[in-house]
Amino acid sequence: MDPPKKAEKLRERINHHNYRYYVLDDPEVADAEYDRLLRELEALEAEHPELIAPDSPTQRVGAAPAEDFPSVRHAVPMLSLNNAMNEDEIRERFFEPLVRQLGEDAEIELAAEPKLDGLAVELVYENGALAVGSTRGDGETGEDVTLNIRTIKSVPLRLRAHGNATVPALVEVRGEVYMDKERFEEMNRRQADAGEKLFANPRNAAAGSLRQLDPGITDKRPLDIFLYGIGRVDGASFETHADSLDFIESLGLRTVRERRVCRSLDEALDYYREMMARRDDLPYEVDGVVLKVNRLVQQTELGVRSRSPRYAIACKFPPRQETTTLVGITVQVGRTGALTPVAELEPVRVGGVEVRRATLHNEDEIARKDIRIGDTVVIQRAGDVIPEVVMPVVEKRTGTEKTFAMPDTCPTCGGPIERERTPGYRHFWCRKRGCERFLERRSAKSIPEACDKCNESLEEIDGGSVVFCTTLACPAKLKGTIEVFVSKGAMDIDGLGAKLVEQIVDAGMVKDPADLYDRALDDWSGLERMAEKSAQNLLGALEASKERPLARVLFALGIRNIGAHVSDVLASHVGGIDALMNASAEELQEIDEVGPIVAQSVVEFFANESNRAVIERLKKAGLRALTESAAPAPKGDAFAGKTFVFTGKLEQMARTEAEERVRALGGRASSSVSKKTDYVVAGPGAGTKLAKAESLGVAVISEAKFVEMSGAG
Ligand code: IVH
Repeated sequence: MDPPKKAEKLRERINHHNYRYYVLDDPEVADAEYDRLLRELEALEAEHPELIAPDSPTQRVGAAPAEDFPSVRHAVPMLSLNNAMNEDEIRERFFEPLVRQLGEDAEIELAAEPKLDGLAVELVYENGALAVGSTRGDGETGEDVTLNIRTIKSVPLRLRAHGNATVPALVEVRGEVYMDKERFEEMNRRQADAGEKLFANPRNAAAGSLRQLDPGITDKRPLDIFLYGIGRVDGASFETHADSLDFIESLGLRTVRERRVCRSLDEALDYYREMMARRDDLPYEVDGVVLKVNRLVQQTELGVRSRSPRYAIACKFPPRQETTTLVGITVQVGRTGALTPVAELEPVRVGGVEVRRATLHNEDEIARKDIRIGDTVVIQRAGDVIPEVVMPVVEKRTGTEKTFAMPDTCPTCGGPIERERTPGYRHFWCRKRGCERFLERRSAKSIPEACDKCNESLEEIDGGSVVFCTTLACPAKLKGTIEVFVSKGAMDIDGLGAKLVEQIVDAGMVKDPADLYDRALDDWSGLERMAEKSAQNLLGALEASKERPLARVLFALGIRNIGAHVSDVLASHVGGIDALMNASAEELQEIDEVGPIVAQSVVEFFANESNRAVIERLKKAGLRALTESAAPAPKGDAFAGKTFVFTGKLEQMARTEAEERVRALGGRASSSVSKKTDYVVAGPGAGTKLAKAESLGVAVISEAKFVEMSGAG
């Protein structure tokens, strides 16, 4: 047989076995036979590289790591689903409105499917070949993860022709990339052995694996896919959703076996109950079932409301609970410095996942629920949320249980801690790991529904007792501390992104923000992937940052409750860093806009000896705002009521300095040009802002003129 024919035959056979193994879960040959075929094809392609086709089964991982994922627009938006939490809600929020809209006599079939707990993707096949794989993103635009999707063995690189029909020229399908429960645990065991971080649950593992920039890593992760819907298909039309799934299945795409068409609501509710009972036995994680009106004409008639269709609903399962023993309570310090008590549990399986630790939220919660070390406790896991301790089983107490007390120093660095508790306020806590935002609200009206930072679920904290480590250099929060310090609104150190911060902290090169200024060119250029030129630029950026005004430096210290605005207020009222460091809470509260919370945070921050030492070193490093004996006093009101915009390069001073000067003279510095702008100061390289100023008739002046007007130079 000639090589091209032979390669073609081998590919066909391998693709067929792939399909039997990964899609149908019903292999025809032993693994060794499959491997033999694959090796034969590899050898043939090595000998005849011209025969390598992009959809060859040998070409699943073919690319080098990417810098970023390009974005992809979904031709048909990927909608989301409304939720029902129980049977009553399924009836009232989904089925009854359907009947009202379609009419009492309408026959309504419901296609019922498991709600897979992974992440939604779209696959686009052009002329039978996988062209694009993307994440859902915001529903309109997602990320192009084609190279990673290609590594998933149950994703065919080429669709199968079925019977006499040809494969449609365009097939867009949607589904869920997920990780099998068993393989998830296996992978976590491997991660643990290798000292790598563990994933909290299969969903996070799937999402994290699919969004790897290096497809070589994704390839090693046991990802899988189920397709549950169609975006567009050329030249094919269907009567029902079930037909459309049968059709895509016939193309070699994997659909879930546990799907069923129900002829009444009662049948659908039976399915819901049945799946709930079976959920732990399913090999994949489900967090509910999805019901979809089966007839497509009815779907069209029902239409879409805001971002979710009226014809479908996600019916969630209640959280699963188990009992186990609370062996101990450890205290973790999060990135924000928040101390969180964590329950150390006798390992227990909850819904197919082994749980060893659960969150206890905070000290008050432990006291309120009267949870004691040694207790038998009820724990629960809802979807992909971190497991939590619900309550103790008091009847099982033996009298040997011990109550818990929060440590009075930080368990990581041993430094002092700050307790935040404000009477009259309600307190909320974002439960997303890594976010852990703390919100305080006074009026009932402004109670937030979701975290204002990451949009995840918030939990109210009883009494609002949260404890924070106040030490700037605490290793538990060092990455966060440095990230805030170098960020745009703070010291604005260009070139020091999150990845580099991680690298320098992990390498022990930087143990507090002042260390940044002590590192020499060699230290930076010695880092992996750091070119000499970038290291030089970084040193330049660090040098330039020494000129930042006091407000920015204060903000950069990441003191609790001191955001950009409060930093401005403090900087313009105190006579420099020393005055601030020595101010009492009462003195600080005399400043307009400074209340007890801010005052307490400032005082506790500067009462911490370790923080004072960092400030001293920052002074030595030459941060101008810290070495000046006082903040520059307003020099006058020459610019009162005037707004300035700077554009292009300034040659005599840094832009921040120029802006400071405007403020010192009573004016306002803005970053965008409008009719209200009085002067645009344009230097070399000025672009759109200059053009806009000209079109609006705003006065344009040179840097020299500005220097003259501000009476400096
Ligand atoms: S259908 C218009 N079917 O649930 C309907 N979604 O909020 C769009 N999901 O992001 C989705 N299993 O990732 C559908 N059998 C299933 C599903 C499913 C899981 C996820 C999907 C989507 C979310 C909807």
